[in-house]
Amino acid sequence: MAQPPRVIDYEGSRYSTEFWNPAREYEDRAERIAMRAMLPPSGQRLIEIGAGAGRLADLYTGYGEVVLMDYARSTVIEARERWGSDPRFKFVAADLYSLPFVDRAFDALLMIRVIHHIVDVPRALAGIAAALRSNGVFLLEFANKRNLKSMARYALRRQRWSPYDRSPIEFVELNFDFHPTWMKAQLRAAGFTIQNIRAVSMFRLGLLKRWLGAKRLAAIDGMLQRPLAPLAIAPSMFALCQLPSPSQGEGAEGESLFRCPLCHQPLPAQPANDELRCANGHRWSTRDGIYDFRTVM
Ligand SMILES: C[S@@+](CC[C@H](N)C(=O)[O-])C[C@H]1O[C@@H](n2cnc3c(N)ncnc32)[C@H](O)[C@@H]1O
Ligand SMILES: [Zn+2]
Repeated sequence: MAQPPRVIDYEGSRYSTEFWNPAREYEDRAERIAMRAMLPPSGQRLIEIGAGAGRLADLYTGYGEVVLMDYARSTVIEARERWGSDPRFKFVAADLYSLPFVDRAFDALLMIRVIHHIVDVPRALAGIAAALRSNGVFLLEFANKRNLKSMARYALRRQRWSPYDRSPIEFVELNFDFHPTWMKAQLRAAGFTIQNIRAVSMFRLGLLKRWLGAKRLAAIDGMLQRPLAPLAIAPSMFALCQLPSPSQGEGAEGESLFRCPLCHQPLPAQPANDELRCANGHRWSTRDGIYDFRTVM
């Protein structure tokens, strides 16, 4: 059997507080402006994959059901601590390469600051497309290798790899930057049409942040996100993608949300004795409000 793709492990990391420190208020605000403009504000069921501690989950409260999923159990616990009092939320520990959801389960799926850790993008996108309903939306953030800073560094010979080369660059183990043309081709190959693109957080400079303040700088960013998108020179690109409407069927209403990630048998809608068990006897813990599909019991 083929080796499963390598996965980065954030278990026990302090990403949610150390990376998202006050100096990154501008980036957080700029991302929120893009997301508010791009994501349909309401719907039935939304999932964020690689949601970490649920930094962005306040943007999802227009949805009837919200799944926050991550590979690292410790970040899922953080998300539950933040959002567990809202009955619309579900917390899932799972690997995006083997999603534990029935086909066409979601009408919105987001992946923000995650695909830059993904070694097998076509495989990840195939799973995502299967989990979405027809007409479902997929909001993807990806790291752009052809950004202004990278082009300048390359011109000054401070960076060895070319920002113009189409293939992904793994600049640190399991950290990739992507060429926008390459990423668009992957999205199309997975069956998505790209509805709109925004270029986000173009002004990642301490000086500018201090001079203008995060709020004002993010507002300027927000105004430029669409007009500058065609230049694709921002470090972060947001793409709103959609599956075409044809005959994929009308979603998974009435069925369970979960399926066994090992054998793909549907799982019961409700846990019994803190577990979900498939027809083949694979058992998955649901203890402490976390659906754990990382390790079979
Ligand atoms: C940089 S953090 C971003 C967290 C959050 N989206 C945010 O923007 O604050 C990347 C997250 O992706 C998750 N991740 C990476 N590979 C994954 C995989 N194969 N399946 C599920 N989650 C994954 C990590 O565990 C981590 O929490
Ligand atoms: Zn099974």
